[in-house]
Amino acid sequence: MRHALVVGASGLLGTNFVRHLQRTRDWRLTTLSRRPVAEFEPATHMALDLLDQAACESCAPRLSSITHVFFLARVVDSGYRIAVDPNLAVLRNLIDVLASSAQDLAHVQLMHGCKWYGVHLGPFRTPARETDPRPASENFYYGQHDYLAAKQAGQRWSWSTLRPHFIDGVGVGSPSNLVGAIGTYAAVQRELGQPLHFPGNEAAFNALLMHTHVDLLANAMEWAATEPRCANQDFNVANGDYFRWRDVWPKIAAHFAMPAGQPSALKLEQCMADKRPVWNSIVERHELKPVPFEMAADWAFADSVFRLDWEQAVSVVKAHQYGFSQMMDSEQALLALLAQYREQKLLP
Ligand SMILES: NC(=O)c1ccc[n+]([C@@H]2O[C@H](COP(=O)([O-])OP(=O)(O)OC[C@H]3O[C@@H](n4cnc5c(N)ncnc54)[C@H](OP(=O)(O)O)[C@@H]3O)[C@@H](O)[C@H]2O)c1
Repeated sequence: MRHALVVGASGLLGTNFVRHLQRTRDWRLTTLSRRPVAEFEPATHMALDLLDQAACESCAPRLSSITHVFFLARVVDSGYRIAVDPNLAVLRNLIDVLASSAQDLAHVQLMHGCKWYGVHLGPFRTPARETDPRPASENFYYGQHDYLAAKQAGQRWSWSTLRPHFIDGVGVGSPSNLVGAIGTYAAVQRELGQPLHFPGNEAAFNALLMHTHVDLLANAMEWAATEPRCANQDFNVANGDYFRWRDVWPKIAAHFAMPAGQPSALKLEQCMADKRPVWNSIVERHELKPVPFEMAADWAFADSVFRLDWEQAVSVVKAHQYGFSQMMDSEQALLALLAQYREQKLLP
C-alpha cells in the first residue's frame, strides 16, 4: 500500500488533502505539522518542527515506510512575510532524512503557486506557462525546486511541483485563506450595518482572475504524484475558468443578505484592527464555533490579494495534455464554500 506523508497537515490545504486521502481509503497516512489536528488520528501524527534538524534526524525510523511525500508546509511570519531561508531549511531537513531512510520512496511533491511567475509583483505574461522564465525576484519556490531536482538526480524516486492560484477552501487558522477572510469581513460589515464595500480599487474589481478549489487541487495532487508521466514535471493547477470580482461580489453580498458596496481604497488590516468585539458578538449571537478573531482571517494576506489590479491568468493546458482535465465553475464553487462555512458554524 502507498504510504503518504502529508507535511503541513494542519494548514488550509493540508487538512483538506488529508480528508481527501482518508475518503479514497487507498493510502496509509502519516500527517506532520507542529500543531496536532483534533480530527486526525493521533497515532499517525508527527508533531515535528522541521526547522529543528536534530529533531528531524531522530524521526528517521518513523519515516522508513513512506512512499509519497506531499510537502505543503510553509513558514510564514506575522504581517504575511514569507522568508526564503527557513522555507528552504524545512524542506532540506526533511528530505535529507527521507532520502536515506525511506527505502521505497517513490515521489516527492512540492506545493508551490503562481507567485513563481511574479503574479504578486505586477503585470506578467498571461496566460503564464510552466516554461516561462523566472522573474528576477526572491521566492522560496526557486530554492526548493533547485534543491529537490538536484537531490533527485540519479535516484529512483521522482518529484513534481504544482502551482495553484488562490486556494479556495474551508479552513481555520490559516493565513492564506481568502474565502474565510471575505466571509469574516462580510459578517462584520453586516453587523455594523455597512454595505459590502470591495476592499480594492476599480481596476482590481474588474481584473480577470483564476482560482483553485481545494477539492480540485486534491485530485490533481494525487494524480500528479502517482501518474508516471508526471515524474519531474511542474504543473499549473486552476479551476480552468475566469471571473472578475465585479461579477461575483454582488452574489457574495446576496449570500449574506446585505447590499454590495463599491470599490474603495480601505485597508482591511487597518479597518479590521478594532473589530474583535464585533466578531465576538457575531459568534455569540449566531452560536458559531468560538474561532478567535485572529484565527478567522489574516487581513495582511487579504489586502495583498485585493491590491492585485492586473489580470491573473495562467495556462492549465499542460496538466490537461498530461491527463488531468477536471474543471470547476469558480463563482459557484466560492458561493458553495461560503455555504459550507455556514453549515459548519464557522460563519453566519
Ligand atoms: N492558500 C493559498 O491560497 C495558496 C495559493 C497558492 C499556493 N499556496 C501554497 O500552498 C502551500 C500550502 O498553503 P496553505 O495555505 O495550506 O498554508 P498554511 O495554511 O499556512 O499551512 C502551512 C503549514 O505548514 C506548517 N508548518 C509551518 N512551519 C512549520 C515548521 N517549522 N515545521 C513543521 N510544519 C510547519 C503549518 O503547521 P504548524 O503551524 O502546525 O506547524 C501548516 O500546517 C504553501 O506552500 C503555499 O505557498 C497556497
